[in-house]
Amino acid sequence: MRRDQLVKTLALCLLPAMLTACAPSEGSNLSDGSSEATAENISYTDTAEPQESVTSSAEGTTLANSEEAENTSDSATDAPQDSTAASKTEPPEIEITTTKSNIPEWTETPASGELYVNTDNIYSRIKAVQGSEKVKRYSLNDKVTVVAKTDTDYYKLDDGTFIHCDYLSESEVVVSTETQNEENSGGDYTALTPNGYVIERIDGITYVDGIMIANKTYTLPKDYDPGIKPEAAEALDELQHAAAAEGLSFFIVSGYRSYATQESVYAGWVARDGVEQADTYSSRPGHSDHQTGYTFDLNSLDDSFADTKEGIWLAEHCADFGFIIRYPKGKEMYTGYVYEPWHIRFVGKEKARLITDSGLSLEEYYGITSVYE
Ligand code: DAL
Ligand code: ZN
Repeated sequence: MRRDQLVKTLALCLLPAMLTACAPSEGSNLSDGSSEATAENISYTDTAEPQESVTSSAEGTTLANSEEAENTSDSATDAPQDSTAASKTEPPEIEITTTKSNIPEWTETPASGELYVNTDNIYSRIKAVQGSEKVKRYSLNDKVTVVAKTDTDYYKLDDGTFIHCDYLSESEVVVSTETQNEENSGGDYTALTPNGYVIERIDGITYVDGIMIANKTYTLPKDYDPGIKPEAAEALDELQHAAAAEGLSFFIVSGYRSYATQESVYAGWVARDGVEQADTYSSRPGHSDHQTGYTFDLNSLDDSFADTKEGIWLAEHCADFGFIIRYPKGKEMYTGYVYEPWHIRFVGKEKARLITDSGLSLEEYYGITSVYE
């Protein structure tokens, strides 16, 4: 499930009261809204705008969810598929050729209260219609005061601007790191990281923004034994061929490691260096990125690899093939591990590019921890 969907799913789970406030109104179709203005309602028609057909307005409503939330490129391109959105995607019925010049763009019903923005990076709009001019940017849990609700499913704020009701909730959406740690030892859950990304635990496996996570905080089940993931193997093959074309050679030193393998690897390092030292460079069983099946150590497990032609090329190009340097230099306090220039992790091309270009470690980018309890 994508982040924008899950943000809404989460908000809907946590905040059932919001549902009643935001349920698509019978009058959300322009044909209804235009004809049912009552004494309590005020209709708005912007006659200065060029005439548009109802078709385009109705389609605009359909697109409202995907265009309002501008969190990441992947979420921005996909229309949500939850039930609320599905009801908005119904095509207009009979007003297809009617122009809107004589009908109001929206109708307002007085409302009052304080609501919270339930996702990151949305904008208030100058009008209660999708695609109208943006006014002000809001972040997760910003508090707003509402003065009316429209039949186009927007709330009017006290500054006269509008935010779609899907993005306002009656309570704050907060998931602390502590809560995540508690949940890490429990059953399935869906929540948000402090950075506003969806974190979910399914059958004992934690995913953030869809990426499987194994680190000092988040474990994999002992019996999770997937072997190398085909998509990671394919991506590595692509990387190796591209590198070979430039006269460079990459080979796997360590790829998939099961829980049992990691158990003996870690025990070996502890026997040599002790627990404290070993914990800086080797994962305890159940915590290893290698158990995900998306990881490879390439060529050499020595810091000097970073300065070889291959090491330099890998740092520069691995994102082109969907990999990140999982433990970047200087990020020990976030990842929990020292720099490993040879350890690459497949996350897909789009996310690899975003994470790499951010200059952040995976943990920083998503706002998750990597610490043993
Ligand atoms: N070297 C990494 C941290 C692991 O043991 O998974
Ligand atoms: Zn490794």
